[in-house]
Amino acid sequence: MDEVIKTVLFKEVMALEKNELWLKIQEILGAKLEETEELLQDYTVSNVVIMQDLMDHIVSSSGKRLRPILLLLSGSFKPVHSENLIRAAAAVELIHTASLIHDDILDESQERRGKPSINALWGNRLAVLAGDFLFSRAFELVALCRNYELLKVLSRAIGTMCEGEIEQVRFAFNLQLNEQQYMQNIYRKTAALMEACCSAGGRLAGLDDAAVLQLEAYGRNLGLAFQITDDILDITGESLITGKPVGNDLREGIITLPLIYVLEDPIWGPYLKESIEKRDFSPSTLEFLQHPSCINEPLKRSLNKARLCLETAREYLSGFTGTVEGEILDSLAGYVLQRKL
Ligand code: IPE
Ligand code: IPE
Ligand code: MG
Ligand code: MG
Repeated sequence: MDEVIKTVLFKEVMALEKNELWLKIQEILGAKLEETEELLQDYTVSNVVIMQDLMDHIVSSSGKRLRPILLLLSGSFKPVHSENLIRAAAAVELIHTASLIHDDILDESQERRGKPSINALWGNRLAVLAGDFLFSRAFELVALCRNYELLKVLSRAIGTMCEGEIEQVRFAFNLQLNEQQYMQNIYRKTAALMEACCSAGGRLAGLDDAAVLQLEAYGRNLGLAFQITDDILDITGESLITGKPVGNDLREGIITLPLIYVLEDPIWGPYLKESIEKRDFSPSTLEFLQHPSCINEPLKRSLNKARLCLETAREYLSGFTGTVEGEILDSLAGYVLQRKL
């Protein structure tokens, strides 16, 4: 399909996904989110034409902006210096975007947010630099906040994400990967940043340590569930909707939770084992994965694991009930289980 049509379709799907919850988020955070978008634009300006092209390509594309939303909500439980909150919200989106650009290099992924990925269009060398540029701009914003705790929390999260991506490479094609190791990897590569967003918001709002810990635990468990549903969508999703390729995980040897469960199956496990050992991921070889008796149970079990993480996430919100921000954080947990992109 023509790339332009694909991008337009993706934007439409994105708009359709924006249900009642997103309207509520708009209502509560609208102005702050708009200011965050303005900062994202301002801080991705470059005098170097090619860098500006790279930035225009990725920053203006429609991400869900979940990490700024988490930070802004966590930072709204007390009246706060909102300039810093918005700087931090833009910084976490820049960090997330940088990690997506680098992740697409590692995963050799050709599509992101309904467009060709940066590596697909400009190659790996420029994509590495585009990611680094975004990290540097994120930290310029963090510096303006003059808050060492924020600096520490976000720096640590980036390191943890790198460790997660390295562990994922180390475990690629490894049939021994178990559920516990999988959970540790997804904590590092995905949940750590969401945990950090909630932590950063809570700290900027001056919440006490106990409340910050609760928000962190919420973000961590939400992030775990978010990556499990991402891994499910890599199997059940439709790339026109997700805006990125499907089936990429297995092609890259990434053994996700549903695949761990398929490998445990006495009938279907050996088929998957053989295709991984032979690195044969041709559609005809992988046809067995479409079979309901092969995939339904692993998907159900994975969804259940995500549900459990989300229940845990919600339990950590008990101290925030009765607030509109707490309610939205609670609803976001429901959204993660149903999301289509
Ligand atoms: C994608 O994150 C990377 C994962 C952690 C699975 P999102 O699904 O939040 O990506 P965007 O920002 O909406 O594109
Ligand atoms: C999440 O993992 C990557 C990051 C946290 C950067 P994935 O590799 O599954 O994310 P997608 O599917 O490419 O968005
Ligand atoms: Mg990826
Ligand atoms: Mg994925």
